[in-house]
Amino acid sequence: MLTLGIETSCDETAASVVEDGSRIRSSVIHSQIPIHARYGGVVPELASRNHIMAILPVLQKTLEESGVSLSDLDLVAVTRGPGLVGSLLVGLETAKMLAYIHNLPLVGVNHIEGHLLSPFVDPDCAKRLDFPYVALVVSGGHTALIQVHQVGKYTLLGRTLDDAAGEAFDKVAKRLGAPYPGGPYIEQCGQGGDPGRYHLPIPMAGKGLDFSFSGLKTAAALLIGRLEADQSDRGWLSDLCAAVQRAVVESLVSKAMSAVAQVAATRLVVAGGVACNSGLRAAILRECGQKGIEVFIPRRDLCTDNGAMTACAGTFAFRRNPESGFTQFSMDVEAAFPLGDTR
Ligand code: KG4
Ligand code: ZN
Repeated sequence: MLTLGIETSCDETAASVVEDGSRIRSSVIHSQIPIHARYGGVVPELASRNHIMAILPVLQKTLEESGVSLSDLDLVAVTRGPGLVGSLLVGLETAKMLAYIHNLPLVGVNHIEGHLLSPFVDPDCAKRLDFPYVALVVSGGHTALIQVHQVGKYTLLGRTLDDAAGEAFDKVAKRLGAPYPGGPYIEQCGQGGDPGRYHLPIPMAGKGLDFSFSGLKTAAALLIGRLEADQSDRGWLSDLCAAVQRAVVESLVSKAMSAVAQVAATRLVVAGGVACNSGLRAAILRECGQKGIEVFIPRRDLCTDNGAMTACAGTFAFRRNPESGFTQFSMDVEAAFPLGDTR
């Protein structure tokens, strides 16, 4: 079964052809980072305009690289939400057009569900992974702990009450004058830094499975203000970035481990853009190794937004309920799209 996945929920125009829900035949990602970098975050209007420019070339390249023509496809899967309305619309209308012209079923995918199932398109994870599992989804827009019972059956265990983890990285980096996205910048600057030199609070430590990152962001901003006033050279930068990363990682890891213990899970998936962070990957592997929990973290290009995870989630949904592929033209985008209400 050949599925075309289209993902335009934020600032990546992405498409992928996936065979049988797991084998990537091609995956093309057009990143808008250079456009948004100088604003310190994604500018929604610029994002939608750039998706319009990029979507057809991205689709063409995806099909060329896969060796698949539109008439060979069996299914179109597209991200319906959550995300930026203008951005989502570009993907959804393109997907509807393709499904209409080629008489194909079309499935709307929840972006978070795409991240939850993303390990299934990474061969190293897919060969070992099975349901049920707990997933930590950490990105620029979302931070949540979700129990994945099977495809389409999810229980929300915890989520952020304010900023997402990636947003905290992005905002601290913006305060430091660094371009968007801030996560890779903080990671790089913090390398070799002493995370113990500055004290930053570990958010919501010991308080259930919900997260909060806005207090950490404010504490970091106040500390940066003091350091800038006291010391004209930036000798403190590396230690500060290491401290920020440590606080975020400690919060994510301790709550993920509590969630795994709470539901007696034996498998943990970590997905979303922040899962690219080497400190987070190492800490999760270490903790889970000590407790005998199996870990699944997709390779980095499948952690950030991509079309392959959308194709995977769409294929799994369609297999579970083929009827879901035939209501396509009444489908609309959903800026806030609760998980579980996916079809
Ligand atoms: O999943 P994603 O591509 O888009 C959303 O759905 O939000 O995640 C993007 C987020 C950004 O906030 C970015 O700063 C963060 O992932 N990120 C990282 C790293 N690479 C990307 N955060 C920490 N360390 C990284 N290496
Ligand atoms: Zn995402």
